Amino acid sequence: MRKNIVAGNWKMNKTLPESVSLVKEIISLLNKENSLQAEVIVAPTYVSLYEVNKLLKGSKIKLSAQNSASEHSGAYTGEISAEMIKAVGCDYVILGHSERRAYYGERDAILTRKVEFALKNELEVIFCIGERLLEREKGEHFKVVEGQLKNTVFNLSENEFSNIIIAYEPIWAIGTGVTASSEQAQEMHAFIRKLITENYNTDVADNTTILYGGSCKPSNAVELFKNPDVDGGLIGGAALKAEDFVAIIKSF
Ligand code: PGA
Repeated sequence: MRKNIVAGNWKMNKTLPESVSLVKEIISLLNKENSLQAEVIVAPTYVSLYEVNKLLKGSKIKLSAQNSASEHSGAYTGEISAEMIKAVGCDYVILGHSERRAYYGERDAILTRKVEFALKNELEVIFCIGERLLEREKGEHFKVVEGQLKNTVFNLSENEFSNIIIAYEPIWAIGTGVTASSEQAQEMHAFIRKLITENYNTDVADNTTILYGGSCKPSNAVELFKNPDVDGGLIGGAALKAEDFVAIIKSF
């Protein structure tokens, strides 16, 4: 179901005690709000999930992991399965983040398997896509994003796809301080929704949540979120400060 979402991707930041204080701060700030116009998700590192989940009980905040394995279980040293993530209290998992693609060589085939296991374990997937700067400069950004979808989540059945949230994150905007303009974000989000219509149908497209990610902060969130096809944000740097994160949530 389409909904407004603000998700904090903490990446490789915050020790366990730091994660606990950050989440406590977020909860206490959100408790002062009468009503929220967006679902709030936090994605701490694996080692903080268990404790953070305990703190989130009774709050409206949902828990996500930042990654999960492309195998069910077994001899895969260092990996964490979708089943384990679900069992520790996550409702969501982020897959296909550009940092995973760039630094850990995650390609479409692996991502397809990761999505498959995540869905089997009843996780909703925040699936990240987005072009590099050079690709945008060459005018290839639409083609790149289309390929990223066609080779992975567009092969899912309509029913399976209803558990996919798309996060459009232009790589040139991640952690750089450079945000896509509100127009650039809307243009790409509308394009993604059109692709979903073509691959499935209008109903599916209308019901898909499409988030923007890349240097989203309190000063630009209102502009970005007011676009008809931008349903919220996947927030990196600004999610590490409770006040900034909550200010972004309140931008709806
Ligand atoms: P950023 O990261 O907000 O720090 O640019 C966003 C992301 O990578 O999800």
